[in-house]
Amino acid sequence: MNEPRVLRALCPGSFDPVTNGHLDVFTRAAAQFDEVVVAVFINTAKASLFTVEERMELLRETTAHIPNLRVASFHGLVVDFCRANDVHVIVKGLRAVSDFDYELQMAQANYKLAEVETFFVSTSPTYGYLSSSLVKEIARHGGDISGWVPPIVESAIRERVHA
Ligand code: PNS
Repeated sequence: MNEPRVLRALCPGSFDPVTNGHLDVFTRAAAQFDEVVVAVFINTAKASLFTVEERMELLRETTAHIPNLRVASFHGLVVDFCRANDVHVIVKGLRAVSDFDYELQMAQANYKLAEVETFFVSTSPTYGYLSSSLVKEIARHGGDISGWVPPIVESAIRERVHA
């Protein structure tokens, strides 16, 4: 008899660093799929506040309570990671209409390249405006970011930006 197919979803991103908005998407994806892989895209062309290893560690610590989630990293095309890891579905959060054009383009390209489907989760309104960039910007200027990122991420950002 054939082994039952594991429904594995991928949440790819920069996660520089992970926010409560990302965690909302991971939690909801983990409730729908057998396994969720959260993968940090290694992008040497983009400046980041945290190294890939640091971002992965923050992800591991903040998702430790989700048993069917694991953290990975990848470079190159996301569809190649999907092929290598038997992933057929990408899960992304949609915060607002402004996310849609770019996300639709990527979803269509990924389907064309490898028939990888993209499912969108409507981000909780609480986190609709939230992004890693905004959190970093506010922290750099000494603003309050508690409530937008988990406490260990807040400490890591504060240490890095010395605010
Ligand atoms: O958190 P981000 O920076 O918005 O994530 C963007 C990411 C990493 C999901 C996207 O850039 C991506 O999938 N990059 C991998 C390279 C690739 O496959 N590009 C073509 C996508 S159609």
